[in-house]
Amino acid sequence: MSAKLRSCCEVRFIAAKAGVINCDLSMSKGFDIGLERLTGGAPSARAAESLWTGVGRRRTFFLETFGCQMNDHDSEKVAGVLLSRGYRQVETPEAASLILYNTCSIREKAAQKVFSRLGEYRAKQSEGKIIGVLGCVAQQEGEEIFERAPWVSLVCGSASYRKLPQMLAELEAGNHRVTGLDTDTDETFETEMTRRDNPWRAYLTIIEGCDKACSYCVVPYTRGPERSRASDSILREVRQLAELGYSEVQFLGQTVNSYADPTPRKMRFSELLLAAAEVPGIRRVRFTTSHPSDFTPDIVEAIESEQKICDHVHLPVQSGSTRILRAMQRTYTRDEYLEKIAMMRGAGRPIAITTDVIVGFPGETQSDFEETLSLLDEVQYDGLFSFKYSPRPNTPATTMEDAIPEEEKGRRLAILQDKQREIQSARNAALAGQTFEVLVSGKSRRENQWTGHTSAHRVLNFTSQEKELLGTYVQVLVTGAGPNSLVGEHAV
Ligand code: 5AD
Ligand code: SF4
Repeated sequence: MSAKLRSCCEVRFIAAKAGVINCDLSMSKGFDIGLERLTGGAPSARAAESLWTGVGRRRTFFLETFGCQMNDHDSEKVAGVLLSRGYRQVETPEAASLILYNTCSIREKAAQKVFSRLGEYRAKQSEGKIIGVLGCVAQQEGEEIFERAPWVSLVCGSASYRKLPQMLAELEAGNHRVTGLDTDTDETFETEMTRRDNPWRAYLTIIEGCDKACSYCVVPYTRGPERSRASDSILREVRQLAELGYSEVQFLGQTVNSYADPTPRKMRFSELLLAAAEVPGIRRVRFTTSHPSDFTPDIVEAIESEQKICDHVHLPVQSGSTRILRAMQRTYTRDEYLEKIAMMRGAGRPIAITTDVIVGFPGETQSDFEETLSLLDEVQYDGLFSFKYSPRPNTPATTMEDAIPEEEKGRRLAILQDKQREIQSARNAALAGQTFEVLVSGKSRRENQWTGHTSAHRVLNFTSQEKELLGTYVQVLVTGAGPNSLVGEHAV
């Protein structure tokens, strides 16, 4: 397992399984993320050399991941590349010759964490360890990282991971400033080997980057333009995964449903979901994150017609106010968004819907905020990830007037989360008495206690007398519920 320090962004995805996410990120003024505090000497060439080439020393790496599922999966691929080059993964930075840090910059707090962590790694470099920064902060800050944290030897954004083998070779040859900062790549990051963390569910990135231009978001800058992976290559990998014993695949993309097959086959996203579901051995196909503007009826029809396509859609709304949606450049109005919801609610099979909301966007009035609250009442989401607006470098929203005070953002966030907690408590309570299929992913220390996820991605903790259930699919009767999870018993 790669070591992971869960950032708020990542925690929210884990917590998705648990329901309401409390992601109370505070925002400090400006974009200074404290790099100038991190001063230190240039890397010690001799120390590094001996570490790489020293007799009897195996090349080892420690990889820490912050951020979303895309970052998680990128780290799995990075680990695969390193393992195939003879590196061994270790659990602590102390045991590693190469320390890699896969970073997130979606909100300021996430980026700040990276630099405080880099400060901690400073002493490690003087022990001859090689330190690399990957991911969104690497892309955003670029070579600036070398200036301010000279103990870092590798700075590589996600669009350059396919060049990792060359970059590793350069590091191994003693180069102390290796960069991969492409943004205009039209390739995606495919590797011969990916070391996956979860033995039953496999992530698969089908589209990288983002061509939307939401005014608050760094992703188009850090992950570059949208690039879709060839459908035949995706399906080949799904077949390989099924042969390896994975029964659930999760298609990933910042706007996964904007998928545009680059091959002459021109498979639609919904066709890709259906084709993956047909692969022998695959029992569940998930996908995240969907963009409302590209959410078309054929996706709902695919979910309706194929039980293996999970009955869960994560459809970030960001705000319930059309005025704020315009300022956010979200490309849909409140009513257009609600039409997508109506489409899902009209499906022959219930579909769980979760969303993301940003509170305190510049200019958001009390009445705009109340429109977001009323949207929650109207939609009745099954899960919500909520964030205080955090200004990000280079994004148009940073120069917008009428910034909302931090305290007011906090107040709105708390109100929003309280409302959602009530909604979820009621929705979950209404599931008592129903039976769901669960993919069992955990066993509690307590006797006979297991946990897993339903197709709708709800966490279901249940009792069973069975001795071994991990990785299996079982029917569970729901006997109770809280706002964030269900409880039940194995229905035999
Ligand atoms: N401030 C606060 N939240 C943000 N998100 C993206 N950018 C920002 C920002 N600058 C949130 C959005 C997005 C989720 C992944 O993170 O809600 O859907
Ligand atoms: Fe960011 Fe908007 Fe793209 Fe999502 S759709 S990654 S919020 S720019």
